[in-house]
Amino acid sequence: MATDRTATPAEKFAYFDERTSAAIVNARMGAGIDPRLRQVISVIVKHLHAAAREIEPTPEEWLAAINFLTEVGHTCTDWRQEFILLSDVLGVSMLVDALNHHRPPGATENTVLGPFYLPQAPHYPNGANICLDGKGEPMVVRGRVLDAAGNPVAGATLDIWQTNDDGFYDVQQKGVQPEWNLRGVFTSAADGSYWFRSVKPRYYPIPDDGPVGVLLRALGRTPNRAAHCHFIVTAPGFERVVTHIFTPDCPYLHEDAVFGVKESLVANFVRVTDAAQAASLGVAAPFWSVNWDFTLVAAMSSG
Ligand code: BEZ
Ligand code: FE
Repeated sequence: MATDRTATPAEKFAYFDERTSAAIVNARMGAGIDPRLRQVISVIVKHLHAAAREIEPTPEEWLAAINFLTEVGHTCTDWRQEFILLSDVLGVSMLVDALNHHRPPGATENTVLGPFYLPQAPHYPNGANICLDGKGEPMVVRGRVLDAAGNPVAGATLDIWQTNDDGFYDVQQKGVQPEWNLRGVFTSAADGSYWFRSVKPRYYPIPDDGPVGVLLRALGRTPNRAAHCHFIVTAPGFERVVTHIFTPDCPYLHEDAVFGVKESLVANFVRVTDAAQAASLGVAAPFWSVNWDFTLVAAMSSG
């Protein structure tokens, strides 16, 4: 049955069988309901029934699926969202993000936000070091925030967060890591430039002690995310960019558990051994130097 109309009497009074099941279910929706809800439910029912017909689950398998989803629900708390994690590992989060952020070539691409973002991280002047636990290989990130024509964007906000060198975010190790370790908010200067000091990110596992972890192991997949540093870049008049930079040498670059890696987000990490250069930047040699520009696109006007 088409998804954009109410059922005919013939469809409404037909009996349910395995061939007509989806159409019968969809025909049960009332007249005058929200058209978007009608479309969404119609499509989901159509594809769910087609999947059941193709898979032909036994009753035990169907119950196992229901029990799995029940477990996903039971794992959710105020601070843990196992359904989002499930959407992440099935690639749906990245697909929905891609469908909603078609950007012109050259514009910085989005990737997954993840569950470890905290608003209200400390604001720092450019050049500050966000690594408060002193672990890891020093890294200096320098670049500019630009518009699509290559002009500097002054006053852009760069909200940055990453794991420590043990592969944990500060919020996963309260009382172990300093509060706000490896988080900071920076502002681009008049020429669009920004810079900060940190440590080279390393790969780490997504929370895998719940049903999503069980699923990943059953599928022979790694729970690891490719090593990355998160950014949210905002500036008045521009689309918000939720993105990462990835290290090129990470062993999980092509196996990222949540499909967040995009070629355009893999940065060049240059290992600098020059002690004078390191000293001038306030880090110990050797350190990793990363040049990274963000290119923002104008926000769509709402009027
Ligand atoms: C993260 O990068 O922080 C993340 C993303 C998706 C799921 C889990 C963690
Ligand atoms: Fe992350």
